[in-house]
Amino acid sequence: MRYLDRGIWLATGLVLVGGCDHKQSGVAAPATSAPGAAISASAPAPRLAPVAAGVDEINPRLLRRFQPVGGAAASQTPAPDKVALGRALFYEKRLSRDSRVACNSCHSLTKYGIDGRPTSTGVDGQRGGRNAPTVYNAATHIAQFWDGRASTIEQQATGPILNPIEMAMPNEQAVVAALRSVPAYADMFRRAFPGERQPLTLKNVGEAIGAFERGLVTTSRWDRFIAGDSSALTAVEKHGLRVFLDAGCMVCHTGPQVGGTMFQKVGAVIPWPNQQDEGRSAVTKTAADRMVFKVPSLKNIAETAPYFHDGSGADLETAIHKMGLHQLGVDLEDADVKAIAAWMRSMTGEIDPAYIAAPAQQADSPQAPTKTL
Ligand code: HEC
Ligand code: HEC
Repeated sequence: MRYLDRGIWLATGLVLVGGCDHKQSGVAAPATSAPGAAISASAPAPRLAPVAAGVDEINPRLLRRFQPVGGAAASQTPAPDKVALGRALFYEKRLSRDSRVACNSCHSLTKYGIDGRPTSTGVDGQRGGRNAPTVYNAATHIAQFWDGRASTIEQQATGPILNPIEMAMPNEQAVVAALRSVPAYADMFRRAFPGERQPLTLKNVGEAIGAFERGLVTTSRWDRFIAGDSSALTAVEKHGLRVFLDAGCMVCHTGPQVGGTMFQKVGAVIPWPNQQDEGRSAVTKTAADRMVFKVPSLKNIAETAPYFHDGSGADLETAIHKMGLHQLGVDLEDADVKAIAAWMRSMTGEIDPAYIAAPAQQADSPQAPTKTL
């Protein structure tokens, strides 16, 4: 049980330094950097001692880390009219300057909400600097974007539309004009926002897309396991979970989404190789937030390669090994990496094809101005 104890110690270590306060963006000192235990990039990282075979009962105290904090969040079911409008807008290419890029171009809903590229390509084939995270289960995260600069999914949704290298619309007026060119939208906005005199606004575009995204929730065998069905994971997957816990990964990847609850430094123990994007410090203007990013959820992780904000993890095994090294200072053996990957596959959820079905393309009004590229 030595390694379970180590896991608990790591968890406590982080909690003591402030990792428990989800709103706090400060870097929690890596537990492994206890006095005298500093690890330099040149010295070989220690290996994790093998997890005893056949002893894969999971400590229930550790499993509690995956339960919702402070009880289940009040579940709000958005009005169906708002969701229907949000779904149409998620697929709407007119929300981009060249009418070629929709939210779905970079967050393909049939591909677990990603584009599969290291960094995304927007209008005019422009390359962004960051990897597109999945939109599935994103609504529950403490904040949106790798650096948490938008606090809600509704607030986030208007960002890419005006972002010059994503959808590149010049301003709100252009967005409103593009949507006015489709007669059906006037009616859809009126029904989604009853009682508003001027419902077609950029803010309401965000509200509707957000309402749709709140329903992009996947459940998997892992969720059934956490809810108490111990038979939902195979013995191999339970072993992988044990390795994940013993290594201390759950110190950061915690809560029902196995992440999305806090900000942490990438390269907590060994500096991250790519220091170009400094993450959250650009938002908070605080030096302590250099290289701090949101800890991503690991739901559907087996389907969302490549990984990391910079897309530098080509496949799941590489990403797991890199995390052990840079976040915990352990050089995970191949068998351990494979075990963790096997467990992670149990978090691949089912996508409801009816919920994500692309609506029939809204017909252009004959009077609509032809948009110039
Ligand atoms: C050109 C590709 C592209 C388009 C188009 C795009 N996104 Fe994104 N999206 C990204 C990238 C890249 C990020 C990460 C950016 C960052 O963190 O700074 C992101 C981040 C997000 C996030 C945050 C997820 C998280 O876990 O933090 C959400 C939600 C999201 N996008 C939804 C949308 C919606 C809604 C639209 C359409 C209005 C949209 N995106 C259009 C590439 C795109
Ligand atoms: C000290 C906090 C911390 C610990 C411990 C930690 N992680 Fe992470 N993890 C992060 C952060 C922060 C990111 C986002 C890094 C980035 O892209 O800049 C991340 C990203 C990931 C990703 C990529 C997610 C994606 O969508 O791109 C995987 C996979 C992952 N971690 C697995 C693990 C595993 C396995 C362990 C244990 C060996 C672990 N992590 C330990 C903080 C942590």
